[in-house]
Amino acid sequence: MSHPTDTPTVPAPAPIGDAPSRYFVTSFGCQMNVYDGERMGEMLSAQGMQAAATREEADLVILNTCHIREKAVARVYSDIGRLKREDGSKPMIAVAGCVAQAEGEEIARRARSVDIVVGPQAYHRLPQLIEQARTGQPAIDTDMPAVTKFGALPARTKQPRPTAFLTVQEGCDKFCTYCVVPYTRGAEISRPFADLVDEAKALVDGGVREITLLGQNVNAWAGTDGKGRPQGLDGLIEVLAELPGLERIRYTTSHPNDMTDGLIAAHRDIDKLMPYLHLPVQSGSDRILKAMNRSHNAASYLAIIDKVRRSRPDIALSGDFIVGFPGETEADFEATLDIVRAANYAQAYSFKYSPRPGTPAADMEDQISAQIMDERLQRLQELLGAQQHAFNAATVGKRTRVLLERQGRKDGQLVGKSPWLQSVHVIDPAARLGDLIDVEIVSAGPNSLEGLSLQLVTA
Ligand code: 5AD
Ligand code: SF4
Repeated sequence: MSHPTDTPTVPAPAPIGDAPSRYFVTSFGCQMNVYDGERMGEMLSAQGMQAAATREEADLVILNTCHIREKAVARVYSDIGRLKREDGSKPMIAVAGCVAQAEGEEIARRARSVDIVVGPQAYHRLPQLIEQARTGQPAIDTDMPAVTKFGALPARTKQPRPTAFLTVQEGCDKFCTYCVVPYTRGAEISRPFADLVDEAKALVDGGVREITLLGQNVNAWAGTDGKGRPQGLDGLIEVLAELPGLERIRYTTSHPNDMTDGLIAAHRDIDKLMPYLHLPVQSGSDRILKAMNRSHNAASYLAIIDKVRRSRPDIALSGDFIVGFPGETEADFEATLDIVRAANYAQAYSFKYSPRPGTPAADMEDQISAQIMDERLQRLQELLGAQQHAFNAATVGKRTRVLLERQGRKDGQLVGKSPWLQSVHVIDPAARLGDLIDVEIVSAGPNSLEGLSLQLVTA
């Protein structure tokens, strides 16, 4: 591991390559990577570089990678290969994100065209790493400094769009036995209250109307407010909800053990907090949950859902599932189907177990065959798909409010999100992106809704 702030014992070699002037960032994986990718871009812009419209036009390409499953990692190496141009030249290539953290120098050894390897806690040092890479030596920085990157990054620039992410918490101390995140993102840290309020204000001043608070365990966020009082995520949401111009607040991803009564009550008391909760359970089998080191069981999970629904009856519940964890029997898998039936999801993500190097589960006996995993995943997804379609269908005939986020594929069509995070397609020549409009839902598909515009609520 080396980083450019180390005191040099020998004079640094002079740069031989040209300084890159146009960058392009591709982010894979979770929303936090999307957020990190934006902040890298803003930092490089603040240094005088420009964002390129395409990869081909860039002389610095940053692959902001995901290590969560094997497939995501394989994608990085095939992407690196594809960056070579027809004339044999290539842009400066930086591998950032969780693969960079997990594989470090190994990447530069395996893929010689990589110039920079930078972990998710070190990307504020990209400008120095670029300088170092210009000498022809790969620049590698996978440090997890005690002082977080956030203080070293420039303030947010204006975001010309209605929604934005805001990382409030990072890292994980939970050590689920299948998961790489505690190793790639490090220990749980919460960003300070005042910094978050300032960043949210900057986003709203730039035109953002909906903020999604991000964290690997976002509901473990803890801080101290301006009056010196300890606060949890609900306290932060309460203060953000007072920002004029901010219309909607969401948060993701939550851990069942950090679902406090205060946060559950916030779903009842704070209008701007949207009725949507992503609360992964992973499995419905207590035996498997124990082997996963989840520290909750199926009954305690369902009890939390029950409490949340009493607080906010229309909440849209979302979750994550892993099928084929080592030792999972047919009975264990059926317990997962049972918990899905009991919880009733509006939307969910489900994955085949992927052994990750260095995690305890990767060394467990009784790994499940690909064929069984495929079959279980299909059965689970059929059930989850039916629940999602039913949730969508139940909104037909209802009036709801939509925040318009992007152009649709059809002429004049706009796409927005309902409070329950469903995509809603509308045609309304008077509406613009960023508007909140009232619609009547006229039809529902498995993945989206069709809305009839009723009126403009706020422009
Ligand atoms: N294999 C499969 N899925 C995984 N996830 C995390 N680690 C693994 C793994 N090794 C899933 C979990 C988590 C989501 C982000 O990714 O469901 O909640
Ligand atoms: Fe992927 Fe997890 Fe890293 Fe996000 S935190 S980029 S999901 S490995």
